Amino acid sequence: MFLGNEMITVENNKLKIDGFDVSELAEQHGTPLYVMSESQIVKNFTRYTEAFKEYSEKTGKEFIVSYAYKANSNLAVLKILTNLGCGADVVSGGELYTAKMVSVDSSKIVFNGNCKLEEEIIMGIETNIRAFNVDSISELELINEVAGKLGKVANVAFRINPNVNPKTHPKISTGLKSNKFGLDVEAGIALKAIKMAKEMKNVKIVGIHCHIGSQLTDISPFVEETKKVMDFVVSLKEQGIKIEDVNIGGGLGVPYDKNTEIPVQKDLANAVINTMLEYADKVELPNLIIEPGRSLVATAGVLLGKVHHIKETPSAKWIMIDAGMNDMMRPAIYEAYHEITPCTIRDEKEVVNIAGGLCESSDVFGKERELPKIEVKDTIAILDVGAYGISMANNYNARGISKMILTSEDGAYTIRERETYADLLSKDIIPPKYL
Ligand SMILES: Cc1ncc(COP(=O)(O)O)c(C=O)c1O
Repeated sequence: MFLGNEMITVENNKLKIDGFDVSELAEQHGTPLYVMSESQIVKNFTRYTEAFKEYSEKTGKEFIVSYAYKANSNLAVLKILTNLGCGADVVSGGELYTAKMVSVDSSKIVFNGNCKLEEEIIMGIETNIRAFNVDSISELELINEVAGKLGKVANVAFRINPNVNPKTHPKISTGLKSNKFGLDVEAGIALKAIKMAKEMKNVKIVGIHCHIGSQLTDISPFVEETKKVMDFVVSLKEQGIKIEDVNIGGGLGVPYDKNTEIPVQKDLANAVINTMLEYADKVELPNLIIEPGRSLVATAGVLLGKVHHIKETPSAKWIMIDAGMNDMMRPAIYEAYHEITPCTIRDEKEVVNIAGGLCESSDVFGKERELPKIEVKDTIAILDVGAYGISMANNYNARGISKMILTSEDGAYTIRERETYADLLSKDIIPPKYL
């Protein structure tokens, strides 16, 4: 019934997460409420390590998963992943600070982003991270300069722009020529940067990085990407430059639409490993890094909202819930589809629209959904919100960021407190002359 959400069951017409009655969790903790499932996070991560272990077995090289913190950087979620041996893909000083807080092995931390700040570079060098994924020549020069001032040598990988169509939503495509990311290979900019780095005293060339987009539901762009990266690695070898790490980014999609099966970790691993092995006689194969976000945590998260009002307009029946686009922006900004279900599953069905309470017409979670009949005070669950849900949440309409709990084998834990009205105002200052 819920493809990809193995933690969800329906028992006696009641939705359960890891065995916990969802309506009862909502009653106990209040709504809106994010629920993350430990068991699902562990399954999603283990599927990567299991699927890719063949790479290490066949090549003797490392395989590393560096989780993209931007997807969901709650400390408990990160600690679960860190304890499983997961690394970190960070894109800011804040995310690096967070990775240090959960004691991620620094040799598994990579630093992404297209506008790295001097203070972030200092932090990265002092943390001894595996690599800065350099996005421009200007960044390379700054990293070399900062490392020089610190008397250190910084590890750098080069984020190439391979011009591969990821066949995903245009707003989450990143590896096309028209996107802002990376060093263009075809125009020779990537090679120019690497040659410059070779002459620099305070950087060490360690890798090639690439990320072509998010929510990829087709494996062929990954194969095309891997080939382009490896062709480039071979061409560098011919110039006497050895690449130790290849990072193919994140991007594996999740089944938001429960009627459509999409590729999973094993499919990705088979395709990538086979492609890499095709290069075994041309170059010493590198360590392999991937930095998934969505596919590790999306399916593990559910957003609960309580129905406060139901109204009929000439065009639709509207279910008004207390979760809104400030809690989860994806439908509003990407027109993203998320499965929605009431937590009490009645036999009678009806077609409804589900909306939040913010003053925006785009604050709608689903339109024309045929769902079991919903009544006021019911709890509604929006599925697959564990990635890019709370990490994109905001205080629009002066609404606090919601509480988050974690269901685990031995209980349900609060892993983020609900923001209060006082929290909302805690950073504002009225100059004394207005008082
Ligand atoms: C550089 C980079 N790496 C990894 C990711 C994670 O992607 P996903 O959540 O689709 O796995 C992103 C997301 O946009 C990214 O920009």
